[in-house]
Amino acid sequence: MNSTLLDRYLQVRRHTAALVAPLSEEDMVVQSMPDASPAKWHMAHTTWFFETFLLAAHAPDYREFDPAFAYLFNSYYEALGPRQPRPQRGLLTRPPLARVRAYRAHVDEHMGRLLQAAPLNAELTARVELGLAHEQQHQELLLMDLLNLFSLSPLKPAYVQHWPAERAGRRGRFIPMPGGLIEVGHAGDGFAFDNEGPRHTCYLQPFEISDRLVSNGEWLAFIEADGYRRAELWLADGWALSQAEHWQAPLYWQRLDGHWQAMTLRGLQALDLDTAVTHISYYEAAAYASWADARLPTEAEWEHAAGSGLLEQLDDVAWQWTQSAYGAYPGFRPAASAIGEYNGKFMVSQMVLRGGASVTPAGHSRLSYRNFFYPAQRWMFSGLRLARDAGAVNAGAVGRIDMPDGEFARDVIAGLSAPQKRLAPKYFYDASGSELFNAICRTPEYYPTRAELKLLKRIAPQLAAQIPAGAALIEFGSGASEKTRLLLAAAPQLAAYLPIDISGSALRQAVAQLRRDYPRLEIAPQVADFSQLSRLCLTTGAQARVGFFPGSTLGNFTPAESVQFLGSVRTFLGPNARFIVGVDMLKDIATLEAAYDDAEGITARFNKNLLVRINRELHGDFDPDAFDHLAQWNPQENCMEMYLVSRHEQQVQVAGRRFIFKRGERLHTECSHKYSVESFSQLAAEAGWQLGRYWLSPAPQVGLFILEN
Ligand code: AVI
Repeated sequence: MNSTLLDRYLQVRRHTAALVAPLSEEDMVVQSMPDASPAKWHMAHTTWFFETFLLAAHAPDYREFDPAFAYLFNSYYEALGPRQPRPQRGLLTRPPLARVRAYRAHVDEHMGRLLQAAPLNAELTARVELGLAHEQQHQELLLMDLLNLFSLSPLKPAYVQHWPAERAGRRGRFIPMPGGLIEVGHAGDGFAFDNEGPRHTCYLQPFEISDRLVSNGEWLAFIEADGYRRAELWLADGWALSQAEHWQAPLYWQRLDGHWQAMTLRGLQALDLDTAVTHISYYEAAAYASWADARLPTEAEWEHAAGSGLLEQLDDVAWQWTQSAYGAYPGFRPAASAIGEYNGKFMVSQMVLRGGASVTPAGHSRLSYRNFFYPAQRWMFSGLRLARDAGAVNAGAVGRIDMPDGEFARDVIAGLSAPQKRLAPKYFYDASGSELFNAICRTPEYYPTRAELKLLKRIAPQLAAQIPAGAALIEFGSGASEKTRLLLAAAPQLAAYLPIDISGSALRQAVAQLRRDYPRLEIAPQVADFSQLSRLCLTTGAQARVGFFPGSTLGNFTPAESVQFLGSVRTFLGPNARFIVGVDMLKDIATLEAAYDDAEGITARFNKNLLVRINRELHGDFDPDAFDHLAQWNPQENCMEMYLVSRHEQQVQVAGRRFIFKRGERLHTECSHKYSVESFSQLAAEAGWQLGRYWLSPAPQVGLFILEN
């Protein structure tokens, strides 16, 4: 009796049944694309495999379950006759699911008898092992195919609501590996596919390999550095395909309201930046590696490094693309029978992936396991682990790939990698940046703050007349709430004040003082990034809502960001809301350029403080004195632009990467848009607002506008 093998057989077969248990019958019939198969087909085909390769040949009294099944459920075995074309497996509404289940039960019964009879010889045992490994491969395919199907459903259903989430973790580090003669391929007596042998000797140059997989956050930096738009990073075939298919992200990522989401077996989820990227093609993996000044490991390097015990995320997260084409090992000969078609005939035009994925059945993979897919395919759980030549002087990478985590790091790396180097102005405002900004507001040249304050004082009663009784005032980026006080004093009918600011300390201080001064006013502060309103909820019962956004901060957004922000405020405040917005008006260039380049040099220090911040927070080595502050009017965009201009050719390191500045090369740090009444009203209209009353200050002119929903 062969009880262990029988137990294993039953366990594998039960696992398939468990995997399909959460599915409806409809889920099991549909085929989402030619590469994928319906769950029902997987259930029948794996059964056909045991029937054909074991029972038909080796169980003397076995009677075929249904003669039609040889055609319906043969996958690709030419030696076994014609078959249902692969892209049409989804047309098999017949046999019904119940008959496929009966087929499974029938084959299980006869396999049970075979495995309980006299001990199987080595060849038959190997066949059973192959059948089990084959069914495990289909268990993974079943989940891949299902995810593809569900990703195309408008409902974005979860396969299993609590399907285990991938584990987050730190970024990878390069581990040095000595080269030399090494052995690769399957060793020992356990089961392995024929393509894993013969074991043979290879020579490796010394190399380095990352101990972890590339994360979603790192991939996002690649996207933000225009990785999908830079032909020079891509292999020619990959570039052509990515252009033709408009690839902009991994297969299951989608961007909604500025936030990335990914389709998973738990349904559509917010993208977790700290888990490994998956569902990328070989072409994307190679482009990323090129961008990261690294490369993909060869399969021999991978296998050798994996055996060292120093790598994490080996076989339980994502299959890892290697740069090795799938081919025969020296001495490989496929079996002469139909079973020889299992692996050998696919040894062309495909690339090897190593490791294993979260959907790979436990115990299925091995260090010598060779998975293979075409370089364009990306519906499998494929990711990447970087490698590089030892001691190579890479243009951009400096010794480590682990960059500091977080949005700031990602944005800075993406911004410095872009052809026109740029940094977002929101990063000006660390503690010293905020102090420098306050100092700018006191310079004689910088008029907007003074002009707006004066205007507000003058029109506060008229503004207050536009605020309904019992309304809530919601301020975006409230800081010290100084300007707000003018409104609060003029509008005692306000029931609530909801300041939103990213700085908790500024908010706490401001609110403590306001509570003393306005004891009857409900004050509900929220520490949050006001540019991400979809993550916030309005915590007030007040029906009438008035938004407040003074300080011409809107001018620092790009026009597209402004429309998006104005639109999200409109949704956030709800019907009948009003929105008071302060903006800077168009005026003569001399006044503008002086305001952004004051004689005392405070704006220059404010601009360069961004470099100081990068040095401190992202292990940078910028020399702020090697850059000049430049403020200049852009007549096409109607904005004041700020740049840092490299005084000479220089190399800078930031977050473990090296960036080259040419002499005179500009780093764009800020746009400050100026408006006419017409251009502002048009911008607001694009976001669905109507322009109500507005007031303009005397020159240098700033404006306060009421927008109505
Ligand atoms: C905060 N923001 C409206 C200022 C502006 O005018 O765009 C930032 C600033 N940049 C240089 N000086 C002031």
